[in-house]
Amino acid sequence: MNVCVVGGLGYVGLVTSAGLAELGHTVAAVDVDRDRLVRVEAGELPFHEPGLSELLARHLPAGRLRFTGHIADGLRDARIILIAVATPARPDGETDLAQVIAAAEGLAAELARPAIIAIKSTVPLGTHHVVRRVLDQHGRVEGRDYHLAAVPEFLREGHAVHDFLHPTRVVIGAADPAVRAEVRELFRGLDAPVLETSFEQALLIKYASNAFLAMRVSFANELAGLCDATGVDVFGVIEGMGYDARIGHSYLAPGIGFGGPCLEKDLRSLIRIAEGAGYEPGLLRAVLEKNEHQVRQVARRALEGLGGDLYARTVGVLGLAFKPGTSDVRNSLAVRIVDWLQRRGAAVRAHDPLANGEARQVLQGVTVCDDPYEAAQGSHLLMVLNACEEFRRLDLARLRSIVAEPRIVDGVNVLDPEAARRAGFAYHGVGRR
Ligand SMILES: NC(=O)c1ccc[n+]([C@@H]2O[C@H](COP(=O)([O-])OP(=O)(O)OC[C@H]3O[C@@H](n4cnc5c(N)ncnc54)[C@H](O)[C@@H]3O)[C@@H](O)[C@H]2O)c1
Repeated sequence: MNVCVVGGLGYVGLVTSAGLAELGHTVAAVDVDRDRLVRVEAGELPFHEPGLSELLARHLPAGRLRFTGHIADGLRDARIILIAVATPARPDGETDLAQVIAAAEGLAAELARPAIIAIKSTVPLGTHHVVRRVLDQHGRVEGRDYHLAAVPEFLREGHAVHDFLHPTRVVIGAADPAVRAEVRELFRGLDAPVLETSFEQALLIKYASNAFLAMRVSFANELAGLCDATGVDVFGVIEGMGYDARIGHSYLAPGIGFGGPCLEKDLRSLIRIAEGAGYEPGLLRAVLEKNEHQVRQVARRALEGLGGDLYARTVGVLGLAFKPGTSDVRNSLAVRIVDWLQRRGAAVRAHDPLANGEARQVLQGVTVCDDPYEAAQGSHLLMVLNACEEFRRLDLARLRSIVAEPRIVDGVNVLDPEAARRAGFAYHGVGRR
């Protein structure tokens, strides 16, 4: 099929474009980010994602995938158009639809032939009315010039290519069965259940899934707080719970909370959706509140460790991305903690195996180091804020020999408490003994 992906150089857009090419489709990825366009055309990826460069190397020369900055060019021959632009949260939690509206305006102006417009971005209920209104205002007629569908995305950064090619499910929301059937063809060849739903159900499946994951994280953090208070090690408790098939082990790791570009924003958005519909989402609010509390708790540990005063103290921070395996620092809680430390007068030295480059663009006054030992050098406190595999293998004796004072706040429970104490550190994890 001929496909156009609007927002084709974003995390979701680029992986989707490359993934659809891998499935045999012909894909035009359209993006307004000139800088990214230049970089990708020079063979450079705009972000770290395993397996992505191999897909590009295969499908760009074969002509199955191309990039363009012009929507009219991207739309040539396209039968299915995927909108994968960003939908950030405003400070009050409301979803900012400006990019979706701009994308719809571009389509309205340039649609050359009848097409299915499928929204891949995570958008609130009612967004199809907004998109329809934009198109209608430009004289486009639904059913004649275009059809609307929702195809929410569930990929995880760091595993995005794998997740695209081996999805847990494909959800296609549209009113018209013929439209759903055509969109289904896009994903033919994938071994996954395909759910055909209403437009609104598809959107809610996405929000509910992310809210549920967020709830598991907040539950694990609640349990860790309870374990801290009662002197029980949380690891054994969670391990024991997880063997119950109804519970499982995933997404039950206590830490600094959930950050990143999706979970928090989508939870806030779902809360707004519920409020707008006149429903009081008490549980969802509690999940969010616990998350805010958790990051403050971990930051407070740092303050306590240094006797209540961070001024002119050096803090070594290990981990800056919002989670392991990605270079993405958008809404990273580690970055939020670094900012908090700096505002209290601490000097921060930091390292992340993948995110140093992106972190340098958002952090000011932080010494970003090429390796974890350089970041730890001369520190009065070490904070681990990302559960990278690399940090599990740290040489604790070497670390002990280079820090100014031996204290560790392990915000993600990546180190072995006993080994850290044996090496001479005062160690604090999250719910660990
Ligand atoms: N990042 C994830 O892990 C993830 C996972 C699932 C769903 N989502 C959802 O997918 C959507 C995209 O997220 P993302 O992380 O890929 O965002 P992103 O910011 O990485 O990508 C958005 C891209 O859209 C481009 N763009 C903006 N306006 C445009 C326009 N009018 N025409 C063409 N291109 C335009 C931007 O330049 C950018 O490259 C969001 O709704 C997000 O919630 C993200």
